[in-house]
This record gives sequence, structure tokens and C-alpha cells, in this order.
Amino acid sequence: MKFSHATIEKNATLLMVLSFLVVTIGGIIEIVPLFYLENTIEKVEGVRPYTPLELAGRNVYVREGCYNCHSQMIRPFRDEVERYGHYSLAAESVYDHPFQWGSKRTGPDLARVGGRYSDEWHVQHMKDPRSIVPESIMPGYPFLAETKLRTDDAAAHLKAMAAVGVPYSEDMLENAVADMIAQADPDADGASGLEERYPNVNIRDFDGNPGAITEMDALVAYMQMLGTLVDFSAYQAEENYR
Ligand code: HEC
Repeated sequence: MKFSHATIEKNATLLMVLSFLVVTIGGIIEIVPLFYLENTIEKVEGVRPYTPLELAGRNVYVREGCYNCHSQMIRPFRDEVERYGHYSLAAESVYDHPFQWGSKRTGPDLARVGGRYSDEWHVQHMKDPRSIVPESIMPGYPFLAETKLRTDDAAAHLKAMAAVGVPYSEDMLENAVADMIAQADPDADGASGLEERYPNVNIRDFDGNPGAITEMDALVAYMQMLGTLVDFSAYQAEENYR
């Protein structure tokens, strides 16, 4: 029997077996190298884990479903870069579990909202969006300013993140509660250690109410750091979209 292409085409079983072989070899060649890669995400200077207060703010963000209307990923297209700033780097969401890239933009992208507005702007906007942007369809979250932030479980939240790979040190876990309080209240003890553990941290009373640490403090602390960790004046990558 001559083993030609016609033989393979006329024999369904043989064709399937051979196709399977080809796909298997191709698959192995594609997949195996990935097992030997240490990391597919380029490390970028400045990116650090969230402080306990920022992480609490992020938890509020997830709990309230802000991701249903807001994305946190600036795509490398000129219109997006001109509106929101430098396109998002993979490294900037490396400590996000789960990531908050989002899939819908009823409101603007928030990946670089940090530092764009004052704390007072955020607090007023959160309490009553239409008092600042009359045509806004964003719901108000006034209760955040009245809800005291839970601080006793700070270490547990850090530990959960550490379990999925965020490099929180023993020192960070031990000081989680103190760090959370110190970031929202500069007069509290321990604010100096906080700055060493988390470079570029904003330390201040975020919600304008020094008497209490509220969920508003946490959410505004989180908003104000979004997209600010990487210094893009020093960051060198492909220049195409700047
Ligand atoms: C129903 C959709 C919706 C939800 C849910 C929502 N937003 Fe918004 N958001 C908007 C819209 C629309 C705007 C633009 C108008 C405005 O500024 O109010 C906006 C604007 C913003 C801005 C200003 C962004 C900028 O660059 O001007 C911030 C910050 C913000 N939202 C944060 C949040 C947070 C935090 C939450 C969750 C607690 C949230 N939003 C929930 C729709 C939403």
C-alpha cells in the first residue's frame, strides 16, 4: 500500500489520529516554555503592595461594585492616553487580587485618578455626585462618611493577600492595625514606620473628619494612590504612545 496523502484523506480514523498528534506536538511546544519562565510581568520600580488603609478602601470599592461602572485599565490607544494618562502597565495591577480592570465604562477610567482631584472633591463627589457634576448618573455613597472603618481585621486582610502571593513582610503584618490608623491620622504613633514600609504613602486625614476613621477615609486613600506609584518621567518603555 502506497502511503500517500490520499490514503490519509480517505481514512477518517487515521486522519484523526495524525491530526491529534500534530496538535499535541504544537501544543507542547507552545505551553512548555511557559513553565520555565520565572515571570511574564516586567518588574517596574515604585510598584508596592497596598497599605492596610488603601487595601481597606479597595475592599469598599469591590463591595460597593464600583467596577460595574468604572474600569481601571488605560489601553495603549492615543485617545485613551490623552484623556487618562500613560497607558496601564501589567506591573501596576500585579498586587490586585482580584484585578479591577473592569469591562464597562459608564463612568471614566480610574486607573490614574490619584492626585487629579483634592480629597474634599472626592468626599463631596462620593456623598452627592450631582452637587459637583450636575448631569452625573453615579449613585451617592454618603453613608461611607458615617461608617466607622473596621481596623481590628487589618492583619487578616493582609494575610489573605500574602496567601495569594503579595509580598507583605512579617513587619507589615505585625504593624497592620497601627499602620491603618496612622495613615488616616498623622498624629497617631507609628506614622514614621509606615513611610518606611510603604514608600510614597499619603498620610493625612482624607475625609475631613479628624475625629473618626471612616470607610470614606479608606476609599479616598485608595482613590488618591491609584496610578501614582510609577514615576513616568523616569520610566523608559516603548515611546510610541506618549
Ligand atoms: C452607575 C454607575 C456608577 C457607579 C456604580 C459608580 N460610578 Fe463613579 N462615576 C460614574 C459616572 C457616570 C461618572 C462621571 C460623572 C461624575 O463625575 O460624577 C463617575 C465619576 C467618578 C469619579 C470621577 C472620575 C473622574 O476622572 O472625573 C470617581 C473618582 C468615581 N466615579 C468613583 C466611584 C467609586 C469609588 C464608586 C463606588 C463607590 C463609583 N464611582 C460608583 C458612574 C458610576
